[in-house]
Amino acid sequence: MSVANTLIQKAPFFGRMFQMEESDLNPINSWPALMAMTSFVWLTIAAVLGLSMPAIQLFDLGSHWYYQNITLHGAAMAFPFAFQLMVAMSLHRAGACLGKRADGILVALTYILMNVGALLLTVAVLMGFHVTYTVMFPLPVVGVMTGQWSMSALVIGFTGIAFVLLSMILTYPIKILRMSFFEKKHDELQLAERSLKDPGMIGMIMGVLVLLITGLPLLATASPILLHLYGIIPAEWIAWAVKPVVFEFIFYIFAHNLMEAMAIMIVGAVYATLPLCTADGSRRLYSDKIANLALWILLVTSITSFFHHFFTMYPALPSTFAYHGNIMSFATAIGGALTIFTILATIWKHGLVATPAVFLILGGFVMYILDGVTAIVISNVAWNFKLHGTVWAGGHAMSVLIAISMIWMGMLYYHYPLMTNRTINDSTARKCIKYFFLSFIGLFYTFLVAGAAGMPRRNAAWEGDWLIYGAMLGVFGTILIYSFFLYFSSLRNSKALDF
Ligand code: HEM
Repeated sequence: MSVANTLIQKAPFFGRMFQMEESDLNPINSWPALMAMTSFVWLTIAAVLGLSMPAIQLFDLGSHWYYQNITLHGAAMAFPFAFQLMVAMSLHRAGACLGKRADGILVALTYILMNVGALLLTVAVLMGFHVTYTVMFPLPVVGVMTGQWSMSALVIGFTGIAFVLLSMILTYPIKILRMSFFEKKHDELQLAERSLKDPGMIGMIMGVLVLLITGLPLLATASPILLHLYGIIPAEWIAWAVKPVVFEFIFYIFAHNLMEAMAIMIVGAVYATLPLCTADGSRRLYSDKIANLALWILLVTSITSFFHHFFTMYPALPSTFAYHGNIMSFATAIGGALTIFTILATIWKHGLVATPAVFLILGGFVMYILDGVTAIVISNVAWNFKLHGTVWAGGHAMSVLIAISMIWMGMLYYHYPLMTNRTINDSTARKCIKYFFLSFIGLFYTFLVAGAAGMPRRNAAWEGDWLIYGAMLGVFGTILIYSFFLYFSSLRNSKALDF
């Protein structure tokens, strides 16, 4: 039995969701299933931490716990949960569409680097390293100098982040590119043939190229810093890299485009799956040309819109760059509008078989568009000065990740029979989707209202109305956790497919 299958078999509770027989399809199924399962373990831990935050504030349990839990919650949700789930589903999609193996050394390395990296970061956070994952350099070092956390916590934290970055920037993108262009095709693995000209595949390849190209400068800058922290190279050699302006720009070119790459990936995934669910069996989008145009607009506009992270650094950031970031951010809406058009026109022309998978994918897409509106608002220079440091920004980060994850969870529903030879429990799945949507809307608008009212983000001293918003986050967070439980149940109570 393969390593991945053995790990799934042995995992308590979560293993039952992904158990599979040994079969000829293991090369495309086993590692994606293991990654999806592991991402759900992180989701469960991070969700409990999410719910603990309002509780800590409402019952006055101490600011240390708040900063620790928010740091663990944000990092775990973004990387070992959302990103790892995306890796799992895109590997499975590439494998089944192109007839390529989704296993091997690069896949194993991606899994190990992502999960060991996230574990190391967890250890660092437990040692007191409390910086948001949207880290501002040199704050981690300032924390050491002011005695807030130790140098060892910083080194362990940076090592963990380095592992996670290596998986996101190198091993995963290189594997997808190798599958797309180089590796040997196995006809028996190609179950849903797709050409590389298909918008679904173009979106996936664009996404990994964005990760690779925008990530390499970050690796080149962060690696010498880490080598210095380990005492391998002297301080003089890294002076250029630790200049805040150098590090911060290079970091945000990647960090911003990481989210954009994930967004382009999910648009690609929607373009790939929607045609397979059309009622007339045409297996076509309304127009591949419009779909591809939307992807290119999203790509071009998103690359330099990263300037919107720096508006409040005026006058350090020249206003030309600020307004360029503003305009490019607004222009991403054209790509969004063309995508909405393509989806609606496809449904109008070809009809839709409304399975839970499609509901969840389209529901996630609606959430993604709703969140896009908040992104447009906060990427306006003037409004950014009011909203930047508030929970509007944290809520936007959280909502886009929830929306993206919902789409991948819908994709998992779609891929599940192929992956496990079982079919999900349909009624539990439909129930779970209703609660997903209700809780998302509740969390989303609570964050927006609280942000507009000036509630600061990452602040452990809620008072007055902020406590009411906090209580609402607790209520909707509980409903979200219930919907995750239903999602897990829909997989655990799946039934074997009859042939
Ligand atoms: C399960 C219910 C959840 C609850 C109750 C919850 C609650 C919270 C709260 C209270 C904050 C802190 C706001 C602040 O003080 O700035 C937060 C931040 C955040 N949440 Fe959640 N959340 C939940 C689920 C999720 C999910 C599913 C994701 C992603 C898939 C997510 C991603 C994030 C991120 C990225 C942040 C920002 C962290 C930072 O600022 O460093 N959360 N959440």
